[in-house]
Amino acid sequence: MNKEGLKIINKEHLTESTCVIVGTRPGIIKMSPIIKELSWRQVPSFTLHTGQHYSYEMDKKFFEDLELPKPLYHLPQCKPGSLHGEQTANMLSGIESMLIKAKPRLVLVCGDANTNLAGALAARKLQIEVGHVESGLRSNDWRMPEEHNRVIIDHISEYLFAPTPRARQNLIGDNVKGKIYLTGNTIVDALIQHIEIAERKSEIIKKLALRESDYVLITIHREENVDHLNTLNDIVEALKLVGHELGIPMIFPVHPRTKNRLKIFNLWDRIMNIPGLRLIEPVGYLDFILLIKYASVIVTDSGGVQEESCILNVPCVTIRDNTERQETVQVGSNIIAGTNPEKILDAINISLEKQRNWPNPFGDGRAAERIVDILSGAPFVEWSFISEVRS
Ligand code: UD1
Ligand code: UDP
Repeated sequence: MNKEGLKIINKEHLTESTCVIVGTRPGIIKMSPIIKELSWRQVPSFTLHTGQHYSYEMDKKFFEDLELPKPLYHLPQCKPGSLHGEQTANMLSGIESMLIKAKPRLVLVCGDANTNLAGALAARKLQIEVGHVESGLRSNDWRMPEEHNRVIIDHISEYLFAPTPRARQNLIGDNVKGKIYLTGNTIVDALIQHIEIAERKSEIIKKLALRESDYVLITIHREENVDHLNTLNDIVEALKLVGHELGIPMIFPVHPRTKNRLKIFNLWDRIMNIPGLRLIEPVGYLDFILLIKYASVIVTDSGGVQEESCILNVPCVTIRDNTERQETVQVGSNIIAGTNPEKILDAINISLEKQRNWPNPFGDGRAAERIVDILSGAPFVEWSFISEVRS
């Protein structure tokens, strides 16, 4: 370690600043209310971008839509197609250098992407405190890179910001060392802050010539789905079946990973020719939340989209075998359908008949406020789902 690095191990050399680490699309969205709250309250802070996501429509578009300042530190973009170890190692080393320069007293990471593992680990090794936003989620599916990341980050963080009572229970069950705070999920804050702006500014419904409550919105990008030919093939067959049986328009903003895989596995032409299915580039946040709001049903393997559809009272069919967002299943917004085409079609049919009146289990829109209260030592009142449901 260099001279500067040796110095930072001494806590008195750290500044008062908080470093917010982002790098992926969901991380930028979920950190945005915290970045804003820190700035409104003039708490010294800065953003560090790891470069994991870098295409305009996966990255910069979100800084524009969410009106976020440019990150103070930005690592070079990750190499496309890099392996998990390589990607995490490059970000770890890049973040470490930046933290040695900036000397924050605390690093905040959000979620389960490699960006967050690299950020939390870099801070931990430099004796900088770590706060994990959206901690305690568990799919118990040990195939998932996200599950490894979550578990490791939770065990090396001082502050564990649990979005739901279930997440808190998971953390208690895992006997984590840090302190657990039930805050709600910042995705609710982001949605509340932007849904009216989206209604005013977004023209996506008109642009795609959609009718309200008359289309299926699809997102697929999860590694265990798109990196396996047989599974991806089943998903393409499922969309074909839905197209034939329901004759309802389907909109599919395609994640770059999924586009690559569809092409590599020679499925691109087949999916392009499914009647009623429109493949589009990933869209910005304002367009996407409006697409969710007016959809008749969502078909997804995304974590954030399971939450947002639940909050906006739109039924969701999750094309995975499990979810770390069990709250959505409990309140009745989400069906875990797997990737079998007939099961997906059945789940969509059930979803189309659903009463859309379930409660929101993810928070009251004040998660960022609570997190910044905790970090500033201000009095903190936990979010309570029970009182929320009763009121
Ligand atoms: C990552 C996260 C996943 C999260 C998802 C959000 C991990 C292990 N996975 O998956 O948990 O749900 O982000 O979207 O961290 N690519 C581009 N442009 C980009 C980003 C990616 O072209 O801006 C392509 C590249 O070929 C890249 C591939 O997509 O190699 C995969 O990207 P990567 O960030 O490694 O994983 P995601 O699938 O995006
Ligand atoms: N999203 C978006 N445009 C899209 C698809 C998704 O803005 O074309 C947003 C969505 O609103 C959600 C987030 O991206 O907040 C989810 O990210 P993603 O599905 O990539 O990752 P995950 O949540 O599964 O980690």
